Amino acid sequence: MRHVISVHDFSVEEIVDVLDRAEGMVDIARGKATSDLLRGRVLACIFFEPSTRTRLSFETAMNRLGGGVIGFAGTDATSVVKGETLADTIRMVSGYADAVVLRHPREGAAKLATEFSDVPIVNAGDGAGQHPTQTMLDLFTIRAEMGRLEGLNISLVGDLRYGRTVHSLAIALSKFGNTINLVSPEGLEMPGEVTGYLKGKGMLGKACHSPEEVIANTDILYATRIQKERFPDLVEYERVAGMYRVDPDLLSRGPEGMIVMHPLPRVNEITPEVDSMPQAKYFEQAFNGVPVRMALLSMVIGGE
Ligand code: NCD
Repeated sequence: MRHVISVHDFSVEEIVDVLDRAEGMVDIARGKATSDLLRGRVLACIFFEPSTRTRLSFETAMNRLGGGVIGFAGTDATSVVKGETLADTIRMVSGYADAVVLRHPREGAAKLATEFSDVPIVNAGDGAGQHPTQTMLDLFTIRAEMGRLEGLNISLVGDLRYGRTVHSLAIALSKFGNTINLVSPEGLEMPGEVTGYLKGKGMLGKACHSPEEVIANTDILYATRIQKERFPDLVEYERVAGMYRVDPDLLSRGPEGMIVMHPLPRVNEITPEVDSMPQAKYFEQAFNGVPVRMALLSMVIGGE
């Protein structure tokens, strides 16, 4: 039984294998071809935190492979409001489905869930922890757009402290031999655990507070949202909200061929004028969630 909890659970070869499988599934993801690979199987998507892309792309992935989906988005209509524990919810749901996709506000929730589940758990974001399936689709996008997965300079910009997508992504990119620049407001720096890992791999680039300092040497500008919901103090949030803005002027200082990515949702980090520029790849990135999650589901449920 294979859980998907952290990018640390995957070797470089295993990641490449997922991306290769995903590539073979793009036509099915687009509805141009059909598949019965997971017919008769059931996926549970249980989301204790808001989500649009992650939940819907998992559901689409399962539906496109001929399987069925159960679950909830928000706990208002569930027994969680009656006081049911995560352990009990997982014990029960794992009896209804062949795999459980879990998003939860608490870091470590997905790992904890594995202790109570008879079926694979897929971490769809655990608080400020990790978001490994987002990382897979980010890597898929990078390989598709840049033609390779190594020797690139990636600048992660925004809330590196609470942003889980950048935690998983930085670790995975460093395993492939890419240099990571870290750009965040003061107080929202990348956790020491991740920077320590990057340093150990020799892949930590520049850590600074302004994108201007790294833009000329950036192949991929990966912007992120300030994670308002994780701030203990909203005054602190107001201090940093809107601090960075990716706009045509900033992009004009980047090298030829640079791309802009964002896990979405964006708030004000990227101005709408950027959307029609050739550098903008965030909507393709969001679509790539479907084939990549198909590949992951075929692995964890289909035994492929
Ligand atoms: C991200 C998340 O939930 O961590 N969204 C996503 O899954 N694409 C990013 C965010 O919420 O800022």
